[in-house]
Amino acid sequence: MATLLILLVISFSQAIARDTITQTKPLADNEILISGDGTYALGFFSPDNSKNRRYVGLWYYKHKERTIVWVANRENPVTNSTGVLSISNEGSLVITNQNSTVVWSSRMTTNVSNPVAQLLNTGNLVVRDAYADDGISTYAWQGFDYPTDTMLAGMKVGVDFVKRLNRTLTAWTSDSDPSPSPYYFMIDVRGDPEELLCEGSKKVWRSGPWNGIRYSGIPATLTYIGFNFSFINNEQEITYSYNTSSSVLSKLTVNQSGVLQRSLWVEDSGMWNVIWYWPIDQCDDMRVRPCGPFAACNPNNSPMCDCIQGFKPKSPAKWLYRDAMDGCVRKTKLDCKNGTDGFHVISNTKLADTSNASVDKNLSLVGCKTKCLSDCSCTAYAQADVLNGGSGCIIWTSELTDLRVFINDSYGQDLYVRLAAIDLAMQESNNSSFHDRSNQWFASGNDHLELSQKNDLELPLHDFGTILSATENFSANNKLGEGGFGPVYKGRLGDGQEIAVKRLAKSSVQGLVEFKNEVVLIAKLQHRNLVRLLGCCIKGEERLLVYEYMPNKSLDFFLFCKPKEEGLDWQIRFKIIMGIARGLLYLHHDSRLRVIHRDLKASNILLDKDMNPKISDFGMARIFGGDEVEGNTRKVVGTYGYMSPEYAMDGIFSQKSDVFSFGVLVLEIITGKKNRGVYLASGEVWNSWKEGNSLQMVDESMGYSYPINEVMSCIKVGLLCVQNHPEDRPLMPSVLVMLNGDSALLPYPKEPGFAVRSVPYQMESVSSKPNSSSTYDMSVTLVQGR
Ligand SMILES: *[C@@H]1O[C@H](CO)[C@@H](O)[C@H](O)[C@H]1NC(C)=O
Ligand SMILES: *[C@@H]1O[C@H](CO)[C@@H](O)[C@H](O)[C@H]1NC(C)=O
Ligand SMILES: *[C@@H]1O[C@H](CO)[C@@H](O)[C@H](O)[C@H]1NC(C)=O
Ligand SMILES: *[C@@H]1O[C@H](CO)[C@@H](O)[C@H](O)[C@H]1NC(C)=O
Ligand SMILES: *[C@@H]1O[C@H](CO)[C@@H](O)[C@H](O)[C@H]1NC(C)=O
Ligand SMILES: *[C@@H]1O[C@H](CO)[C@@H](O)[C@H](O)[C@H]1NC(C)=O
Ligand SMILES: *[C@@H]1O[C@H](CO)[C@@H](O)[C@H](O)[C@H]1NC(C)=O
Ligand SMILES: *[C@@H]1O[C@H](CO)[C@@H](O)[C@H](O)[C@H]1NC(C)=O
Ligand SMILES: *[C@@H]1O[C@H](CO)[C@@H](O)[C@H](O)[C@H]1NC(C)=O
Ligand SMILES: *[C@@H]1O[C@H](CO)[C@@H](O)[C@H](O)[C@H]1NC(C)=O
Ligand SMILES: *[C@@H]1O[C@H](CO)[C@@H](O)[C@H](O)[C@H]1NC(C)=O
Ligand SMILES: *[C@@H]1O[C@H](CO)[C@@H](O)[C@H](O)[C@H]1NC(C)=O
Repeated sequence: MATLLILLVISFSQAIARDTITQTKPLADNEILISGDGTYALGFFSPDNSKNRRYVGLWYYKHKERTIVWVANRENPVTNSTGVLSISNEGSLVITNQNSTVVWSSRMTTNVSNPVAQLLNTGNLVVRDAYADDGISTYAWQGFDYPTDTMLAGMKVGVDFVKRLNRTLTAWTSDSDPSPSPYYFMIDVRGDPEELLCEGSKKVWRSGPWNGIRYSGIPATLTYIGFNFSFINNEQEITYSYNTSSSVLSKLTVNQSGVLQRSLWVEDSGMWNVIWYWPIDQCDDMRVRPCGPFAACNPNNSPMCDCIQGFKPKSPAKWLYRDAMDGCVRKTKLDCKNGTDGFHVISNTKLADTSNASVDKNLSLVGCKTKCLSDCSCTAYAQADVLNGGSGCIIWTSELTDLRVFINDSYGQDLYVRLAAIDLAMQESNNSSFHDRSNQWFASGNDHLELSQKNDLELPLHDFGTILSATENFSANNKLGEGGFGPVYKGRLGDGQEIAVKRLAKSSVQGLVEFKNEVVLIAKLQHRNLVRLLGCCIKGEERLLVYEYMPNKSLDFFLFCKPKEEGLDWQIRFKIIMGIARGLLYLHHDSRLRVIHRDLKASNILLDKDMNPKISDFGMARIFGGDEVEGNTRKVVGTYGYMSPEYAMDGIFSQKSDVFSFGVLVLEIITGKKNRGVYLASGEVWNSWKEGNSLQMVDESMGYSYPINEVMSCIKVGLLCVQNHPEDRPLMPSVLVMLNGDSALLPYPKEPGFAVRSVPYQMESVSSKPNSSSTYDMSVTLVQGR
């Protein structure tokens, strides 16, 4: 009796907990393997619940609704429940039916002694030597090398030249039939490699090439929280893979309609949520190809297709009827031999089809331009890798096809299209709003002496007299406030346009160098969350900067000076946070220059009439070149409360010091309290957050009418940004994603850093008197006393 009981217990526990098939223990139809941590199960199943079509498949053991993510014998079911999955002497996995006919077998290239098959926690079914288990190199075979329609974390899709593998995902034919449909997903290794979704021999969708961080055509993968994406492109392999943190369950699937879906498991609802899919719209769908060669697609425009600058419709009559499939042709022939051709840059593009493009990983962007100019067939170039300041060169020598433009400044990549000089000149005159008004007031006298020597400013120089009259001789009535380097005036030009004029104080810290710095910088930067510089003026000692006018002044005014009942509601606060984040993302990652602002604070965030934030004041900004990621200065400039510890203490500035200032701003926006003096908003928020009642810090002027989740995410992002160690702080791409994310998925912030007003510095100069009604806050310059 006792013996029988023990036997029963043993066989029962084996039935539920086994993850391994051995020669003596094959897997019968009524058994399953369960991975060690209980995530995955493997066994026989019928997609249509009939007993006469049995497949060996993999699913999530704990999920109520069964989602099959891998099938062994997808083309050859066992016709009744007599099938067995077993392992042969040499290590081949085989599925046999009752009369021992082999229905499916793993294709082994090597023999293995003492073979066992094990279902790993990752969902990978591997064959290995039972006595040699030191990782992936010892697997004689793995299911991950033969995906079905689903890519799991840790799986690689793409080509392994050494192992001679070409891993693709192929959709099921239908819900009840796992056999391969014509839809498949692969890595196209030609030209600059990219993801490709196909229907038979037809391309359905391409991702755009991998640029070191993401595919140029997949904006959303910037970085999902809890994900790592990797793209390997070398002699041995060209593969794409991703990992997730243990709390995130995700899959990438080609579904039966030929759509590539990224899904996330949501535990609370017990369901898969599709978080993104491709193709998204007509512009994405290569079967439609709405815009032919040399046309750019933008679904937000009407019509969707537009010829690239310097090109005109090939079939104007068809174009008129919105048929753009013939695409566009060059207006003016290239002048290759004479060397007068130039380049027009299109920003935020999903790069044109790269299957015929060539890539030189060793060439810089400048070298790339030279290479393109020296090759008469070159039509365009772009940077291959945007990481670490950028490297690598993609050259197109044929038509530019499947080109799309994103309206979002933080998406896509710059594409440099080669044009004849005359088409470039036309474009400049048409794009420049300055030129249109040049007759009225942009008289350029002898004033532009120093600047014009370098001649790298495509910026109008203003006549001092015009500005005098626009600002009513810099009258006190027109004064908007006192900036770090002098007063700012409102002005109105002859044509009625309102402007803001920054008049640099003669004694200002901002000398000619800083002045030029700011002018050159902002003139090159254009983003809807950066304030626009309209022009400048130098006359004798006078240095003036002309900006677009921001009717709503600056953020500090709204946050710290308005009576509580006029406070900003959450929607506007969130819009401001997102706008600043996008502006900063552009500065750090997406503009042609890599810019560190160095003086981000509430008074430098201006608000337009719709309360859109615009980052201003670039007098302190620095451009980083090459793979420079960190700078060091002996002259620490910035504003207390916003300065990261490493910057204030050691003069080290980087994207991470800007991220710190951004974090302070976010916390100020949420709490409505200023981060200065003895009161450190970040410290207070941190303390209440640790105690679990961070909502208590939310600006009471918002009442209780705000979405708690969104506010919580923002608080957490703010805290992550002000962490003491720069390496713990996120970069702006992650910040943007996190701001839209679920606060529960965000990492746990560490203690914030504080740059306290302390000993090792002396103030070199303070340029303005504090003024409570001032909307342009004061900056201080610190000099390291060591
Ligand atoms: C199962 O199918 C095999 C082959 O089709 C057949 O030989 C066998 O008799 C069947 N067994 C049962 C129990 O139906
Ligand atoms: C075993 O069954 C298959 C059908 O599943 C059949 O085609 C084959 O002839 C059978 N072989 C023997 C030896 O019975
Ligand atoms: C594996 O072993 C079988 C016999 O056990 C033999 O026929 C076969 O050639 C071997 N294959 C390799 C790749 O060594
Ligand atoms: C990989 O497989 C896909 C689908 O069969 C094919 O189109 C592609 O050319 C293959 N790639 C390589 C490098 O063989
Ligand atoms: C995922 O993790 C595995 C194992 O740690 C590692 O080999 C692989 O490179 C990682 N892949 C990515 C995309 O991070
Ligand atoms: C992503 O990669 C980083 C660095 O390799 C690692 O520290 C982190 O744990 C990874 N995250 C996931 C989700 O795999
Ligand atoms: C495939 O995915 C798309 C996008 O998520 C969805 O609209 C479509 O219904 C899916 N098709 C099937 C058969 O599930
Ligand atoms: C190149 O320059 C020569 C001489 O200036 C001119 O005649 C010719 O038209 C130019 N070629 C092109 C393609 O513009
Ligand atoms: C690539 O080149 C081939 C052969 O010249 C041509 O048929 C094909 O259309 C080109 N593809 C693209 C995307 O330009
Ligand atoms: C690129 O540079 C590396 C290291 O500088 C060198 O080993 C490699 O040969 C170069 N490749 C090409 C294609 O020039
Ligand atoms: C631009 O990107 C942001 C952040 O990813 C997103 O919230 C927003 O909806 C996008 N805007 C458009 C028009 O797609
Ligand atoms: C510039 O504008 C003029 C007049 O509006 C127009 O005729 C011309 O085609 C435009 N040039 C370009 C390159 O778009």
